[in-house]
Amino acid sequence: MTGNITLTMIKPMAVKKGFIGPILHKIAEGGFRIVAMKYMKLTLEQAEKFYEVHRERPFYQELTEFMSSGPIIAAILEKENAVQAYRDYIGATDPAKSEAGTIRALYGTNLGMNAVHGSDSDDNAKVEADFFFSSLERF
Ligand code: CMP
Repeated sequence: MTGNITLTMIKPMAVKKGFIGPILHKIAEGGFRIVAMKYMKLTLEQAEKFYEVHRERPFYQELTEFMSSGPIIAAILEKENAVQAYRDYIGATDPAKSEAGTIRALYGTNLGMNAVHGSDSDDNAKVEADFFFSSLERF
């Protein structure tokens, strides 16, 4: 069975460049409903916990330092088959390889600063949604 939620973050560089509005507009255009959303800055410890699955990767430190370097938007999005639908919609991890018109192609800077995060599985979508939001913050 496929889940109907995914977790996204608008990453610090995209926020800094003024892309919150355009990215939220694209998300709405793609038919994703916002279930929950917050504007916040992660501590380094929180970023390390969020990206725990990548702890052994060579880019882990760079990734977690960047993700805690400035404010982000975190949101739960709802759509049928949300995880795959959103991954298709945002484009490849590396903006240089993303299909034209996708969020990462439009608003990404490079592989690390790729505008947005999207959950990679239904199980991770649940874990990541629970990381940011209580049941009282979901509508
Ligand atoms: P994201 O969807 O947030 O999930 C993990 C992130 O790690 C990914 O997007 C990229 O921004 C980042 N990432 C993946 N590979 C590399 C890499 N080789 N160097 C730096 N960052 C990377």
